[in-house]
Formats: sequence, C-alpha cells, structure tokens
Amino acid sequence: MAHTHPHIPLRSFDPGASPEEASRRFAEIMRLRRTVRMFSDRPVSEETIRNVVAAAGSAPSGANKQPWRFVCVRDPALKKTIREGAEAEEREFYTRRAGPEWLADLQQFETTSEKPFLEIAPWLIVVFKLAKTDEGGHVYYVNESVGIAVGMLLCAIHHAGLVSLTHTPSPMGFLSKMLGRPEHERPYLLIPVGYPAEGCEVPVIEKKGLDEIMVLR
Ligand SMILES: Cc1cc2nc3c(=O)[nH]c(=O)nc-3n(C[C@H](O)[C@H](O)[C@H](O)COP(=O)(O)O)c2cc1C
Repeated sequence: MAHTHPHIPLRSFDPGASPEEASRRFAEIMRLRRTVRMFSDRPVSEETIRNVVAAAGSAPSGANKQPWRFVCVRDPALKKTIREGAEAEEREFYTRRAGPEWLADLQQFETTSEKPFLEIAPWLIVVFKLAKTDEGGHVYYVNESVGIAVGMLLCAIHHAGLVSLTHTPSPMGFLSKMLGRPEHERPYLLIPVGYPAEGCEVPVIEKKGLDEIMVLR
C-alpha cells in the first residue's frame, strides 16, 4: 500500500493460547490486583522500576504526544519530605475539605491523614501530566492519555508481583516544588510501589458484575 509517511509491518503479539484462554487468564491475574496501604520496606530494584515505567510509556496517547513524566523517588530524605507535604494536605482534607458524604464513603478504607507508607515503600512514582510538550507544542486528550498510561503502569507493577497505591493527596502542587518540576508538568498521581507488608490486609470490597458494567447490543 502506498503511504505518504514511513510505515513498517506490525509485529504481532502471540499469547500462545486462544483469545478465550489468554483473556480468561489475564482477567484472573487482574482480579488479584488490590490497592495496598501496608507496605514492606523490602527493596525493589531500579531495573524493575525502569521496566514498569517502560511498559507505561508504551501507552497510546493523543497524536502520540506522550504527555507524561514518571518521577521515580527512592531517596529516603525526599520521601520523608513528600510524606510531610502529603500529610499536611491530608490533614486539611480530613478536617476541612472533605464533605460528610466523601468522609462516609472513605470510612470502609480506614484511611487517615497519616501516610507512613510514603516513607516505607521503596519507591514513589510521581506521575506528572504535561500541559504542553517539552518543546512548547500542543498536547491532546491529556487526561485520557495519562490515565491509560497509569493503568498500564499499575498492570505492569502487578504483573511484576509488586503492589501499589493510587494516591491523590489533594491539592498536589507541593510535589512540583519538592521535585523541582517545570511549570508545564502538573502532578497527576502519587504511586507508592513495593512489596506488601507481612500480614498485609485489604478492605473487603465488591466489584460490579459483568451484567452491571457491560452492555451487549
Ligand atoms: C484516581 C484514584 C484516586 C485514589 N486516591 C486514593 C487515595 O488518595 N488514598 C487511598 O488510600 N486510596 C486511593 N485510591 C484507591 C481506591 O480507594 C481503590 O482503588 C478502591 O477502593 C478500589 O480498591 P482496589 O484498588 O483494591 O480494587 C484511589 C484510586 C484511584 C483510581
């Protein structure tokens, strides 16, 4: 086929099983993913973190602008500073910002303004979305693009046998300052990554059934 721009043949992925079998196995793996709030301080190698970020960086994005930055923090002093900043925002959240309904919705997770995992987890991946390209150009569908990339990051972390917490101390402006990020990078999510603490427990929650989330026409 004649192209106006360079193209190459698609390299396909062969799961080595039928689509039914491969998709069933993947769904089973994904059903084991849980948000964890009790982390071990057991180290995770830089190589592992590089691999999970590379998986995230393979995500689709509007016009392939890849409007994301993954700042991976392992420095204990910096993690401590981030913990202090997050806890200051969270204290405001729990005492003033969150309305009664939001607080009631959070009760089952037993979360408080205390965030020790921000120091205990061996890595904090701070995700920034780019309001412009690094060269000052336009970006498109930024929230959708970064959301997809983070979804892939969470899958990669889980697939590596590690756990994560999708954390949103709000507002997150303090992260830009602490991490010295430029103006066009906006904090998006703060994701501690590591191994679960021994005896780690997670809240009992329900996921909606397929009949609730899927419509077949
Ligand atoms: C965008 C987003 C923001 C979240 N923010 C927080 C948070 O700030 N603190 C927290 O403890 N959990 C947070 N969570 C985790 C959710 O509470 C958790 O995903 C939900 O309860 C479902 O549990 P599961 O991830 O184990 O399936 C967040 C999740 C998402 C997707």
